[in-house]
Amino acid sequence: MPKGKYYQDFSILEKRELCPNTYYFKVNAPLLAKKIQAGQFIIIRPNYDSERMPLSIAGWDREKGYLEIVIMAAGRTSTEATQKNVGDRFQDVVGPLGQRSHVAKYEGACVVLGGGYGTGAVIPTARDLRALGNKVYGVVGARTKDLLILVDELKAVCDEVFVTTNDGSAGIEGFVTHALEQIMAREKVSMALAVGPVPMMMAVAKMTEGKGVETWVSLNAIMVDGTGMCGACRVTVGGKTRFACYHGPDFNAHQVDFNELIKRQRMFVEQEKIAFEAMQR
Ligand SMILES: Cc1cc2nc3c(=O)[nH]c(=O)nc-3n(C[C@H](O)[C@H](O)[C@H](O)COP(=O)(O)OP(=O)(O)OC[C@H]3O[C@@H](n4cnc5c(N)ncnc54)[C@H](O)[C@@H]3O)c2cc1C
Ligand code: FES
Repeated sequence: MPKGKYYQDFSILEKRELCPNTYYFKVNAPLLAKKIQAGQFIIIRPNYDSERMPLSIAGWDREKGYLEIVIMAAGRTSTEATQKNVGDRFQDVVGPLGQRSHVAKYEGACVVLGGGYGTGAVIPTARDLRALGNKVYGVVGARTKDLLILVDELKAVCDEVFVTTNDGSAGIEGFVTHALEQIMAREKVSMALAVGPVPMMMAVAKMTEGKGVETWVSLNAIMVDGTGMCGACRVTVGGKTRFACYHGPDFNAHQVDFNELIKRQRMFVEQEKIAFEAMQR
């Protein structure tokens, strides 16, 4: 590919395996690192012929000009991305996209809850909430101990971090909502942010509903352009059509039509399977 006037070198500066199929990447992206805010996201194409893949931001360094991302190999494009190594480049990276997370000084505590790659996504928001003087709890959940990621990184930006595992191999046995329940039982919680699989975000929304907890979820709708032009990421929030890429990705959890989101996330399952199988041939 010819290098045009605005060519940027999205080199991979560091790569670490966090757990099976999930990797941390530090990527050179000086212009993005200058502007990105907590809660915003990027879209990458790992290779020239790859599809576009939205990714949350787990951190950045404005001076050194890099972004930190976490990629879980879920299908063809994410596998292409996780096959890259230090010194390789992502073909292109677009952003910052979406709105920054809502942060304010709250009367009660704030709780950020992460599942899977969502743990990376809540770290910058936790840092912003704490910088405003809030008491911030972090909760990281996984099926089992070996799948827990970024616990120390979350500890660095929270007052206290709870770990939950479904099988009880580490921390509290159960789901992130069990930790949230314990925190809510011991003190007033004013705000919660959950980022992770849809069932986890739904469970958090259900637990805080009617309890005076402003609750946000980051919606991982299928996206194409990421700028509000194509309509692919359409979601319904409070009875209104919203584009997750432009109006979100964070939305009021108590107003999200999660069933519609789940249905739309599964729209291309057959094609995704075919694409992944073709890649492995
Ligand atoms: C705002 C946002 C932030 C995200 N942050 C991260 C992150 O930090 N780390 C991470 O690993 N993943 C993240 N994802 C999910 C990631 O974009 C998808 O896993 C990836 O696009 C799947 O593509 P694939 O070809 O590997 O898998 P496929 O086999 O094509 O898809 C697997 C599943 O991923 C979802 N998906 C597929 N294509 C897209 C798409 N274009 N946009 C959104 N979801 C899609 C669908 O539910 C699909 O069933 C995020 C998604 C969104 C919308
Ligand atoms: S991805 Fe096209 S409108 Fe959101």
